[in-house]
Amino acid sequence: MADRTIIGLVILLNAIAAGVLYQRFHDHPQVQLLESKALELYHTLLPPKTPDRCGAIKWPAYVLVSDRVVFPDGVRPGAVYISGSKIVDVSENTTVDMPHVLNFKDAVISPGVIDVHIHLNEPGREEWEGISNGTRAAVSGGVTTVIDMPLNSNPVTTTLAQLEAKKARAKVKAFTHVGFWAGLVPENAANHTVLAELVAGGALGFKSFMCNSGINDFGNVGRQDIAAALPFLKARGLPFFVHAEVVSPVETDPAADPTAYATYMATRPPKFEQDAIRLLVELLDADATPAAPGFSVHIAHLADAGALDMIKAAQARHPITVETCAHYLTFAAEDVPNGQTQYKCAPPIRGSANRQRLITAVASGAIDLVSSDHSPAPPSLKATDTGNFLKAWGGISGAQYLLPASWTALEGAGVDLLGLARLLSEAPARLAGLAGRKGKLAPGYDADVVVWEPETRTNTSVALNLHTHKLSPYTDVPLKGKVLASVVGGELMALFGNTNKQPCGTLLLKRD
Ligand SMILES: *[C@@H]1O[C@H](CO)[C@@H](O)[C@H](O)[C@H]1NC(C)=O
Ligand SMILES: *[C@@H]1O[C@H](CO)[C@@H](O)[C@H](O)[C@H]1NC(C)=O
Ligand SMILES: *[C@@H]1O[C@H](CO)[C@@H](O)[C@H](O)[C@H]1NC(C)=O
Ligand SMILES: *[C@@H]1O[C@H](CO)[C@@H](O)[C@H](O)[C@H]1NC(C)=O
Ligand SMILES: [Zn+2]
Repeated sequence: MADRTIIGLVILLNAIAAGVLYQRFHDHPQVQLLESKALELYHTLLPPKTPDRCGAIKWPAYVLVSDRVVFPDGVRPGAVYISGSKIVDVSENTTVDMPHVLNFKDAVISPGVIDVHIHLNEPGREEWEGISNGTRAAVSGGVTTVIDMPLNSNPVTTTLAQLEAKKARAKVKAFTHVGFWAGLVPENAANHTVLAELVAGGALGFKSFMCNSGINDFGNVGRQDIAAALPFLKARGLPFFVHAEVVSPVETDPAADPTAYATYMATRPPKFEQDAIRLLVELLDADATPAAPGFSVHIAHLADAGALDMIKAAQARHPITVETCAHYLTFAAEDVPNGQTQYKCAPPIRGSANRQRLITAVASGAIDLVSSDHSPAPPSLKATDTGNFLKAWGGISGAQYLLPASWTALEGAGVDLLGLARLLSEAPARLAGLAGRKGKLAPGYDADVVVWEPETRTNTSVALNLHTHKLSPYTDVPLKGKVLASVVGGELMALFGNTNKQPCGTLLLKRD
């Protein structure tokens, strides 16, 4: 009898927990109190049905429904059928004949965001940012895949052994899928054996600096190094990520106030970006190797809108892709307060007229995609005590805000929900060689999904910042786009501001 009562109680509680999940929490003040406990409750009340399931939903198959599903060709009411780690169907029929359905009403169901530019710094510099904290923050902001930069880990990722060390850690620590860019440096640029090993190890492409990277063992490449590597990259159809700034002497006022943002900005003029891009085009013009599909020179974090015409002209002859970052679309030099080094990055955030041109370029398709370039450092390296822009480490903390910041900046320029999904999911997937597998809500694709409310402000309070270091220019900025849920390979990893306890991310390796 006692047993039956307990079983009855468990069934009742299960029904309540499931019922709670079916609702839109924030619309129901009576259950709002449960919000912070939702995942935990859910864990307790719904014992694993599938031992394989690592995320908070334990059903092997379930359906996400809403009035606004971002289909590959438009936004309509729909149902996304998930089984295991895959999307098995995306239907316009929202009457679902399945036991496990989460109806998110008028929230938007989009493909999970792919951040192709993030610095996780592990192994070796976890005190700057690590895989657990970095990917947990990312997934809470709707990012379901990150592609890690070959620096600022220590060692950097320029050999197979170093890539393997990253893979081993990411495999057990990541809350998102994690792919890797390998480093292309003077030591390996001409050694195609080493480059081929990195690709065989799963690197999705390569990253170089054309100026000092700030990390001693990640040297910058010059004309000869790039010329030596291009035939390999083109023949293998690999993306070549470039930090495109070539530094030349600039006249600066030695008496200028180092806590003024303008003082820093003057040290890295638009000319640096333009010179680098001009050199890249020259090198492409000089290389006759046929480019296999997948190859592109990818201009990382374009900050100067003045370089766009040159890029456009060169794109008629060469595969060149362009990225800008959410911070270049959100902030403007005129507004950076004195001493606030959380705004320092390279190339620098420029003036508001330039920002507007970048926004227009993203909206028109002249810029392919938006990334976070999440690259935090401890407060001591950010020179928070003195506010000296010339001494502070350049790097902005913001993986968690990529989706809301991009949406807030671009919505007014005519980018709609489908356009945003193309910029944050589809184009990044294509760049990384993952088209056909990621970046869209379609049958056969990985079940990487973000559910969010474009009209609702997200809470950018520092208390909700999940990065290792809380210093971020996005703090308290009014951003639209509140993430309700993130699903990574079928695993529910974030719900109503809670993140799953287990890291359920997987490695994303190059498959030939
Ligand atoms: C929608 O799906 C339900 C459940 O499978 C089914 O009964 C109904 O006929 C479908 N409606 C349409 C218009 O296909
Ligand atoms: C390439 O690098 C490998 C590993 O460091 C080394 O053994 C080999 O000699 C190098 N090849 C050339 C052509 O430099
Ligand atoms: C944002 O989150 C903080 C920390 O949890 C909380 O104190 C604050 O009330 C929230 N703001 C809003 C507008 O909900
Ligand atoms: C993760 O972030 C928290 C909060 O900032 C910090 O205390 C912790 O040390 C970080 N974990 C790692 C492994 O860096
Ligand atoms: Zn970067």
